[in-house]
Amino acid sequence: MTARIYIPRDAAALALGADRVARALTAEIAARGLDVTIVRNGSRGMHWLEPLVEVETAGGRIAYGPVKPSHIAGLIDAGLLEGGGHPLCLGRTEDIPFLKNQTRLTFARCGVIDPVSLEDYRAHGGLKGLETAIAMPPADVVKQVTDSGLRGRGGAGFPTGIKWKTVLDAQAPQKYIVCNADEGDSGTFADRMIMEGDPFVLIEGMAIAGLATGATKGYVYTRSEYPHAIAVMSEAVEVARAAGVLGPSVLGSGKAFDIDIRAGAGAYVCGEETALLNSLEGKRGVVRAKPPLPALQGFLGRPTVVNNVISLASVPIIMDKGADYYRDFGMGRSRGTIPIQIAGNVRHGGLYETAFGLTLGEIVDDIGGGTASGRPVRAVQVGGPLGAYFPRALFDTPFDYEAFAAKDGLIGHAGITVFDDTVDMLKQARFAMEFCAVESCGKCTPCRIGSTRGVETADNIARGIEPEKNRELLADLCNTMKFGSLCALGGFTPYPVMSAMTHFPEDFSPAPVAEAAE
Ligand SMILES: Cc1cc2nc3c(=O)[nH]c(=O)nc-3n(C[C@H](O)[C@H](O)[C@H](O)COP(=O)(O)O)c2cc1C
Ligand code: SF4
Repeated sequence: MTARIYIPRDAAALALGADRVARALTAEIAARGLDVTIVRNGSRGMHWLEPLVEVETAGGRIAYGPVKPSHIAGLIDAGLLEGGGHPLCLGRTEDIPFLKNQTRLTFARCGVIDPVSLEDYRAHGGLKGLETAIAMPPADVVKQVTDSGLRGRGGAGFPTGIKWKTVLDAQAPQKYIVCNADEGDSGTFADRMIMEGDPFVLIEGMAIAGLATGATKGYVYTRSEYPHAIAVMSEAVEVARAAGVLGPSVLGSGKAFDIDIRAGAGAYVCGEETALLNSLEGKRGVVRAKPPLPALQGFLGRPTVVNNVISLASVPIIMDKGADYYRDFGMGRSRGTIPIQIAGNVRHGGLYETAFGLTLGEIVDDIGGGTASGRPVRAVQVGGPLGAYFPRALFDTPFDYEAFAAKDGLIGHAGITVFDDTVDMLKQARFAMEFCAVESCGKCTPCRIGSTRGVETADNIARGIEPEKNRELLADLCNTMKFGSLCALGGFTPYPVMSAMTHFPEDFSPAPVAEAAE
């Protein structure tokens, strides 16, 4: 019987040597004349175990990791092809606690299937949501999405169904679905993992969005730094087109929908939806004033749904299992599941999909296993570079949009970055201002000028120059940026700056330069 071995083609696994492992295995198989099929799957999201090699057995998949090319011969000697024992053997993949304790709705197939096999996708429940949507009037599809409680996973948490309804109700000769796959937040990788591990779920979600709103054309806008995601998505779109999932008659419905993949040059601001639309139109990535909303005048001035990858990839399961099934997970107004991306100085970094409601402490200490350095956790930044820093004292905050807002924080794209007790929070505050200065599109003054003045002020505090006056000035600048900026780049930079100052004031009172020199 042919043995089936899985080695991820996900960028994180590749960075850790997955291609070298696959080549070593291929050579060893040939040398020994073994009958083995190697499947290049997506990642299971347990990054500290990558490259994770899995073998299919009658009792389920058995995992080994992290595997190096030098391990291959020994692994085969130990009976890898039958799931045999070896120091790298982790047992059944599904039983690894990090994976077992998750609720995988959006990522159910990621790491399980061959990403570019439509057959495999169908065999694991794919396309059922699209089939259900085709059988329904568009307004009912939109209602299902609204009733599911799904909110935008790109950062703002806006209800997806309400956005879709605006586009459905708009009258226009052409409408568009734009998938925001720019994923600029540092420490986030959920969008990339879906595109590399289960691209058909995104294609299916976009097709459902198209049928629901009357849009016939979709674009996936991602960044040139994601070459592997672009390659997998492009191949999957070709496969879907050839199989009639995309094209003039989606699954024989008589309704058209097709997708193009576009790569931007990787400016953070091009993740902001209106700058993204400008970039997609071939213009400079500068933020547009709102109104008009993109839902009414978006790409080329036409009604456009702009949704994050995870928002769109969550729609197929909602349509397949129903709105109630999805909304039964979660807490308060945060319904369903959220793929949390755990990064930074952490022992168990990776992707953890779970219902909303776990506390930050549970995520960092229990799931993440504390710091990789073994030192105490001091701060956690939640929500990317524009997110607030949380001290241990706030670790009881549940992962929920409103609970985080109540603590002057945000969930954003659900990336969390862990820092140990060697972190200098004044430097982190300076970094936030510097990041904003570098990435600012330059359209409005509070962001363009304020961020540069912010860097100078943080430097003055660090030098011990009139610290009290400069702390007040920094807070004043944050206030101006928060309320005077046109978009959330300038408007949210105050979150990391002010949270650092509020929760870690001791780092903002360095000794004056003269004193320090003594
Ligand atoms: C500076 C900035 C960068 C952003 N980057 C992203 C991004 O990389 N991906 C994303 O989905 N949304 C990003 N957003 C949010 C988008 O503007 C928009 O809210 C989102 O794409 C809407 O989709 P959703 O409702 O599905 O979240 C960014 C916003 C700002 C202000
Ligand atoms: S806040 Fe910054 S990025 Fe946003 S529009 Fe103003 S200058 Fe551009």
